[in-house]
Amino acid sequence: MDSNNNILVTGGAGYIGSHTCKALAQAGFTPVSYDNLVYGHRWAVRWGPLEEGDIGDRARLDAVLERYRPAAVMHFAAYAYVGESVLDPGKYYRNNVAGTLTLLEAMRDHGVGHVVFSSTCATYGEPERVPIDEDHPQRPINPYGASKQMIERMLGDFAAAHGLGWIALRYFNAAGADPNSEIGEQHDPETHLIPLALDVAASARPSITIYGDDYETPDGTCIRDYIHVSDLADAHVLALRSLQKGAASAAYNLGNGQGFSVQEVIALARQITGHEIPVVRGPRRAGDPPRLVADASRARQALAWEPRHASLQAILESAWGWHRQRQGRSSLPRHDWATSKEQLPHA
Ligand SMILES: NC(=O)c1ccc[n+]([C@@H]2O[C@H](COP(=O)([O-])OP(=O)(O)OC[C@H]3O[C@@H](n4cnc5c(N)ncnc54)[C@H](O)[C@@H]3O)[C@@H](O)[C@H]2O)c1
Repeated sequence: MDSNNNILVTGGAGYIGSHTCKALAQAGFTPVSYDNLVYGHRWAVRWGPLEEGDIGDRARLDAVLERYRPAAVMHFAAYAYVGESVLDPGKYYRNNVAGTLTLLEAMRDHGVGHVVFSSTCATYGEPERVPIDEDHPQRPINPYGASKQMIERMLGDFAAAHGLGWIALRYFNAAGADPNSEIGEQHDPETHLIPLALDVAASARPSITIYGDDYETPDGTCIRDYIHVSDLADAHVLALRSLQKGAASAAYNLGNGQGFSVQEVIALARQITGHEIPVVRGPRRAGDPPRLVADASRARQALAWEPRHASLQAILESAWGWHRQRQGRSSLPRHDWATSKEQLPHA
């Protein structure tokens, strides 16, 4: 086994982690998914082995790090439900912060010197200005965002004390699915706009709720920056390579720099699916800023990152392609990763 090509992917059975495993395999790496499957799916692990385990389980981490001796870690594993984090903050600080601390100490002790971390625009809180660049103050307004900000702080401290090289990628709204529909988004419970709208189009839900239509935006609904999950995956591979070439540790926003309102997303989903997608009007949700749009020019420049699926049309079409195929997917047997990897083009 060429240990230099192994990358430990925590949360590799989840939505963004699994798409990144595909991108890693296409770039010639072997992604080793480390996931406790609380939210992840066995079927989503197709491009490398799955090691079941919890990031808070030091003995299990030791065994997996010893076995694969990964060159780096990509760290996706976390809880990510904002509303739940307000109701049960301890769950978020334990899993996200304490779990990451265990992971970072294990990496330090096993000599794994690079990590690419899933951060979020939720670390900024209510924006003072839009588009948001990386120098915008980080004042998270919920425990989920706070947990991610604390992890960024820990990365800086581990870098100073132990020489860890890190890149934190602050995603805006991840959306879409693998353009070949091999994997896609399946959260349970689902809280994201696009899969919810497509569930309605597929008759799996009767309607979609719009939370607030009296915001100070052109049509009164919230505006978000949607970024294709495969473009996020590409950015992770570029971040890894740049760390391996000795680039400085840094945090980068990942978004398209263009905002779409909830109404605009639903209107395009209607067009693509040919379904009327009925909506119900609901109250505003606490802590939902009217506009969140990224200035991602730093990532484009420093990582030479160029989103390939930037249009909302491409995002929705890929999500719809996956949605239509996914029935019965959860019962599929796990892929033979060795075979599937051979079939992938290597970059
Ligand atoms: N989806 C988005 O729009 C978005 C935006 C910003 C940031 N993020 C961050 O990106 C990452 C991935 O998000 P996602 O949408 O793919 O979520 P996901 O729930 O699909 O993936 C997370 C994975 O981590 C695993 N996991 C959770 N806790 C674990 C633990 N203690 N040990 C091992 N595995 C564990 C889950 O089983 C799951 O497979 C998260 O860190 C999230 O905070 C997501």
